[in-house]
Amino acid sequence: MNKLKVGVIGGTGMVGQRFVSLLAEHPWFDLTVIAASARSAGKTYEEAIGSRWAIDVPMPEKAKSIIVKDAVGDMQAIAGEVDFVFSAVDMKKEEIVAFEEAYAKLECPVVSNNSAHRWTPDVPMVVPEINPEHLDVIAAQRKRLGTKRGFIAVKSNCSLQSYVPALHPLKDEFGLEKVLVCTYQAISGAGKTFESWPEMIDNVIPYIGGEEEKSEQEPLKLWGKVEDGVIKTASSPAITAQCLRVPCSNGHMAAVFASFAKKPTKEEILDRWASFKGRPQELELPSAPKQFLQYFEEDNRPQTRLDRMREGGMGVNIGRLREDTQYDYKFVCLSHNTLRGAAGGAVLLAELLKAEGYFDR
Ligand SMILES: NC(=O)c1ccc[n+]([C@@H]2O[C@H](COP(=O)([O-])OP(=O)(O)OC[C@H]3O[C@@H](n4cnc5c(N)ncnc54)[C@H](OP(=O)(O)O)[C@@H]3O)[C@@H](O)[C@H]2O)c1
Repeated sequence: MNKLKVGVIGGTGMVGQRFVSLLAEHPWFDLTVIAASARSAGKTYEEAIGSRWAIDVPMPEKAKSIIVKDAVGDMQAIAGEVDFVFSAVDMKKEEIVAFEEAYAKLECPVVSNNSAHRWTPDVPMVVPEINPEHLDVIAAQRKRLGTKRGFIAVKSNCSLQSYVPALHPLKDEFGLEKVLVCTYQAISGAGKTFESWPEMIDNVIPYIGGEEEKSEQEPLKLWGKVEDGVIKTASSPAITAQCLRVPCSNGHMAAVFASFAKKPTKEEILDRWASFKGRPQELELPSAPKQFLQYFEEDNRPQTRLDRMREGGMGVNIGRLREDTQYDYKFVCLSHNTLRGAAGGAVLLAELLKAEGYFDR
């Protein structure tokens, strides 16, 4: 198979570094372009990164000598050189909206990690195991943008990628009505390490700007339906969230409480988790975890350090399922925020797009 040529826009950032490391040996995608701000452009990737390499695997040899391009200034050249781009930049929302649309209009599809387009009604926001059918809306988006090939697809926020997958196989069958969730989120979610954010050592910060709204609202878009060329959001379940920053390098934990119209038994819940398979598992996509939802019987699991890397950081880990006095059940979930929750989730989405023919010329 000829590999598709891929660019990483924002490749010098924390999420961008994950993209670069995941793409270095990818069986379907060939990392050809790395772009960032004008500050990094013209330097080799190694020079542009300097002392900023922040992830737990070494910088791929292949990436070191790539000359970083200017994501905005070199847009036309980049769009002509690659088959699609990943986007993970830290810019103002209006700037991201405009530059991602500009790439799409140059017939270069964009798979984005940014939140800027998550609420654009004809942009699919996809967790590949949950709502792969939302890719159908791309036809309507292409019509609006006036493109034949170009489009934007996004992934959802990292906080909800621990608990939404666990709720998904129960939602329709048992009528999920009400969810309360508290998240305990790692510092890499803010693009930080303990070196760059020493205030987080021995500390918890009870506020992450905008995160509670995303955690409550984005699941309703994931559970929505494509109708008349847009995604209509679901009206239930009701979700309330509190999001805390905790002193972990990677791995977002969530404590979840849920009530149903038709209360399942504990055995039914465990059975639905064990047997759940999504489209990535059916298609055997290269980054798809074999066992997406893993339940741990031990009272003290899942643990961040022990379990965040299960299935290459792409699995969702669940534990402590028990009945509750206020809600039907409570349990905990864990997922890796820069792998499943960011770059890995976007790479899996790109694999799904490729398998479904959206990158065809
Ligand atoms: N960290 C996570 O776990 C996580 C999870 C989900 C979503 N996100 C989202 O992903 C995005 C990236 O996050 P991050 O943590 O990787 O941020 P980051 O470490 O601050 O990296 C930002 C990247 O954007 C580039 N950039 C900044 N201004 C630019 C401009 N004017 N033109 C072109 N490129 C520009 C930077 O290039 P230079 O190096 O040249 O400055 C760098 O490559 C953000 O929107 C964030 O909200 C992050």
